[in-house]
Amino acid sequence: MTDRRVGVIRGDGTGPEVVGEALKVLDAVRGDAGFDLVEFDLGAERYLRTGDTLPDDELERLRELDAILLGAVGDPRVKPGVLERDLLLKARFGLDQYVNLRPVVRYPGVQTLVPSHGEGDVDMVVVRENSEGLYAGAGGFQRKGTEHEVAVQESINTRHGVERIVRYAFELARRSDRRHKLTLVHKTNVLAFAGDLYQRVVDELSAEFPEVETDYVHVDAACIYFLDSPSRFDVIVTDNMFGDIITDLGAMIQGGMGIAAGGNINPDGVSMFEPIGGTAPSETGKGTINPLAAIGALEMLLRQLGETDAADRVGRGIRAATQQMKSMRAGEMGFSTTEVGDLVVEGAE
Ligand code: IPM
Ligand code: MG
Repeated sequence: MTDRRVGVIRGDGTGPEVVGEALKVLDAVRGDAGFDLVEFDLGAERYLRTGDTLPDDELERLRELDAILLGAVGDPRVKPGVLERDLLLKARFGLDQYVNLRPVVRYPGVQTLVPSHGEGDVDMVVVRENSEGLYAGAGGFQRKGTEHEVAVQESINTRHGVERIVRYAFELARRSDRRHKLTLVHKTNVLAFAGDLYQRVVDELSAEFPEVETDYVHVDAACIYFLDSPSRFDVIVTDNMFGDIITDLGAMIQGGMGIAAGGNINPDGVSMFEPIGGTAPSETGKGTINPLAAIGALEMLLRQLGETDAADRVGRGIRAATQQMKSMRAGEMGFSTTEVGDLVVEGAE
C-alpha cells in the first residue's frame, strides 16, 4: 500500500508541543504502515510574517491529503477571530468537514469535577453539525457605530445540511460498539424554525433506523444532565453553536480540556483531527500541558484511516497513562508533557 499522506499543522502556543508527542506515539504504533508527514506552516507566525491565514493554494494542498492533524491556532498578538475564522473555520468549511465528532469518554483513574461520576457513567459522542448554523457567517451591520446600530447574525439550517448530520449520527448510534440511542439536543421551544427542521428530520430518518431509540433534550437541560446523569447519553446530534458549547462542558466531565479530542470529518473527503483545548498561551514552552487530547486526536485519525490496530494501541496507551497521572490539568499532571507521551508509548503494546 502507498504511504498515507498526513498533513501536520502544528499551529500556535502549545500546539507544537502536543503535536510532537502525538507524532512520537505515531512512530511507536505505526508498525509497517507508512505515513508521509506533510508539514504546513500555518498559524500566527506565518500570519504575522506574511499576512496569510489559509491561502487558497494551501487549501488545495490540504484537499489532496489522506488526513490532517492540527495542534491549535490562536495567539494573543493576533486580533481574536482572525485565525479562528480565516484559518480554522475556512479549513472546516472549505474541506466540507460537516461532522464535528467529539467523543466524551471518562478514562480510568481520571478525577473530574463531578466526584459522584464513576468510570462507566461518561461514554458518549457528540455529533456537532460543523458546516452551517450560526457559524455560516450570515448577517451584517446596519448603521454601525451609531446609537441605532443593528447587528444581525443568522442561523442557516439547510435541509441537506441537517439531513446529512442526522444521518451520520444515526449510523454511528446503530453500530455494535454503541448503545443504540440518539438524542437530539436543541432548543425547539424557542428556536421554532431551526429546531423544527432538526426534529422533523430525526423523526423521518428514525424509520430507517428502527434499532436506534431516539430522544430529545433541550440544550439547557442537557447541561444539567451532563452533570447529573451523563449515562443517559450515547450519541448526541446537535447544531454547530450548541455543539461548541456543550462539548466544552463535555470535556470537563471527562477530566479537562487536556484530554478532549475531536475530528472534523468529511466522510467523502479529507478529515482534520485536533485537541479541542486551544493554544494555552500561558503554558507555552513550559512542558506542563497535557498532550493526551492531541494523542486522542491521533487515535481518531488512525481509526478514520482504517488503521484499527494502531488506533487500538494508542487507546491502550492513553488508558495506561491516565491510570498513572495525578490530574489531567496543565501543571498538575505529576509528569511533564513529554513524560506523558512516554507513558502512552510504554502502554501502547
Ligand atoms: C472549537 C472552538 C472553535 C469553534 C473556535 C476556535 C472557532 O471553540 O473548536 O470548539 O467555535 O468551533
Ligand atoms: Mg469550542
